[in-house]
Amino acid sequence: MKISIKERRKQAIVAMVDRVRHCLNEEITIASIELAKVELMKLCEQQALFPREDFPVPSEGQSELFFHVYEDPIQEYSLYVYSALPGQSYRPHNHGNSWAIVAAIEGTEIHSLYRQTEYSSAAEWITDIIVEPGTAVSLLPGGIHAIQSAGDCPLLHLHFYGKSFEIQGERTEFDVRTGQACHLTLDDNDLSYIIDVIS
Ligand SMILES: [Fe+2]
Repeated sequence: MKISIKERRKQAIVAMVDRVRHCLNEEITIASIELAKVELMKLCEQQALFPREDFPVPSEGQSELFFHVYEDPIQEYSLYVYSALPGQSYRPHNHGNSWAIVAAIEGTEIHSLYRQTEYSSAAEWITDIIVEPGTAVSLLPGGIHAIQSAGDCPLLHLHFYGKSFEIQGERTEFDVRTGQACHLTLDDNDLSYIIDVIS
């Protein structure tokens, strides 16, 4: 019997999550999340499991789409396929109390990493990491990144979190010009670009 791409993708995702659960079982540290990052990058190498027929380039006025493809029963692991036009950017932000890993199937993004300074609410730039096929970035809970897509190729990336967007808790975003931080919780309106394809 021929197994569909969707079923093969589901199996590959579940296997990846099992391996990541093992990596992060003891403690979430730089070392353990780096091991988890390698597992997400291996999934990205299986490019045939993420065809554009299932994860199209945004059209009709939309510039980005998140396809929610996996969430485990106790909401500890949540995987999205991110499809976006070139030119997307996000100002510095964290993901509440969730860790995050982003890896690329197609297209290039620059992830600028920041840390919050002790003496003010400003975010201080640390370094830039290029996320393109063969590379990835990981953030510990509370880690801060800004995103800027690069090049002309639409993005097809995997975003993997310890919790889905809805339950990541209060998120902090930083205005680098004013040095101000703002705290917000994503609600349904903010999440309207997410398409639930978990089954
Ligand atoms: Fe982010």
